[in-house]
Amino acid sequence: MSSTTEHTHHHVSVVDANKEFFNHGTDHGHESFLEKLMKLKSVQEVYDVLTNQILKSYSFDVNKTRLLDFACGDGMLHASPWVSVHTKLTTSTFKGVMSLRLASHCKSITGADISEGMTNAYNRKMHANDIHHAKAICGELKADSLDGQKFDVIICLQAYHHIEDCLKITQLLKSFLAPGGVLLVVDQLEGTHHMPAVLEDTLPIMQEMMKQSPHSHHMIAHAGGFSKEKMEEIYTGAELTDFEFIEAFTKEREGKVFTLFLAKGVNPA
Ligand SMILES: C[S@@+](CC[C@H](N)C(=O)[O-])C[C@H]1O[C@@H](n2cnc3c(N)ncnc32)[C@H](O)[C@@H]1O
Repeated sequence: MSSTTEHTHHHVSVVDANKEFFNHGTDHGHESFLEKLMKLKSVQEVYDVLTNQILKSYSFDVNKTRLLDFACGDGMLHASPWVSVHTKLTTSTFKGVMSLRLASHCKSITGADISEGMTNAYNRKMHANDIHHAKAICGELKADSLDGQKFDVIICLQAYHHIEDCLKITQLLKSFLAPGGVLLVVDQLEGTHHMPAVLEDTLPIMQEMMKQSPHSHHMIAHAGGFSKEKMEEIYTGAELTDFEFIEAFTKEREGKVFTLFLAKGVNPA
């Protein structure tokens, strides 16, 4: 590697490394790395459990609840990827299975993500499934984004470890919460193993992606996840109240444990 290349690599920001990683291979509507991952049965199970935990954390009202999904990815939390984008959902499947996950519990859903590949995939999926109340926008979230809209619930799943300054992003997210609104963050519990160590079928996809994306090693800002104390410090620092922290999903394989926490705080304003 030449010193120039080294120099360039060194200065790739975490945001740009994430954009590159999550955009990788998504041009011309190709299936993204995340979509491949989310089709795995083991990952589906994780998101089924998380959906239930999220639904327990707030009284969702289909006529009222405005949800912001920050770092939404391809929207698999709102419409399950195993529902083919070419198959329109019937009313009975809409109600009957968890396939739509949160989409069937909210009045509106706004997705926000820095990766165009992800937001395109998200919007394609919603459109193909006739979900008209969920839409993703691409771009870095700023104080004046989203036309002054406020949200009752903001969720951020598996993305805080991709973000350098978590306090700053939490303060920003708080500014989008309606009074009494809640921020729900899901990420890896510090001290537990990474997903591929326990959900074995995810490993080949993860490895292939790491190999293909030259800056993938820059995209993780918090490799070991977060402790309860750290999350409480972030929530308190952002002046969110009524902090709660639960182990939302946990699975063990050969003595290795993978745990995702769900942190919650309320906007008292
Ligand atoms: C592991 S994926 C999780 C996606 C989705 N929340 C889920 O649980 O399936 C991480 C996502 O965070 C997005 N991301 C990373 N940094 C971001 C930032 N600073 N602002 C917005 N989105 C970001 C990536 O583009 C990617 O879609």
